[in-house]
Amino acid sequence: MKKDVRDYIRTIADFPHEGILFRDVTTLFADPRGFRMAIDQLLHPYAGVRFDKVVGLEARGFILGGAVAHQLSAGFVPIRKKGKLPGTVISQEYKLEYGEAIVEIHDDAIKPGERVLVVDDLLATGGTAEAGIKLIERLGGQIIGCAFIIDLPDLGGRRRLEALGMEVHALCA
Ligand code: PRP
Ligand code: HPA
Repeated sequence: MKKDVRDYIRTIADFPHEGILFRDVTTLFADPRGFRMAIDQLLHPYAGVRFDKVVGLEARGFILGGAVAHQLSAGFVPIRKKGKLPGTVISQEYKLEYGEAIVEIHDDAIKPGERVLVVDDLLATGGTAEAGIKLIERLGGQIIGCAFIIDLPDLGGRRRLEALGMEVHALCA
């Protein structure tokens, strides 16, 4: 019997590169009990807290963020990889293991002072989340929390986000 969110997550060796142990959350998302448990636990610290927007980071943050936004009666805003959003965007560069990437947000997606929750499946180096945080803050959003299913603590993402003044919530390591 699976008791914990981590019991639903599959680890796949050597994806996308040799030596990487990839945490595959599709098995969590596919299980009715597992998915509900994950959404309920992501929401747990925010009982009674008001949010205007939930921001999901491409791609798995969209699946989680949509469900979380519905539960919070908040709007949902995507942060996407460069070139995917149709309207006027602002962009932020960030470092990958090899090279660089760019994420974007619609420039009218968050109004100054709006209260925001950032959601993604996994926190590794924190580079993606940090880029997202910068975009939200450039639009004047007030980030109340950052919520993840998995934190890989050895990669330093939590420390990096906490150094930016963020409150990080993660369900498992
Ligand atoms: C993964 C994961 C996070 C990010 C975490 O997404 O879903 O968004 O990496 O890594 P970091 O903390 O080191 O930045 P990925 O970049 O693989 O994009 P995808 O969801 O579009 O496949
Ligand atoms: N799973 C999903 N995304 C990731 C991982 C992982 O194990 N590591 C870095 N990004």
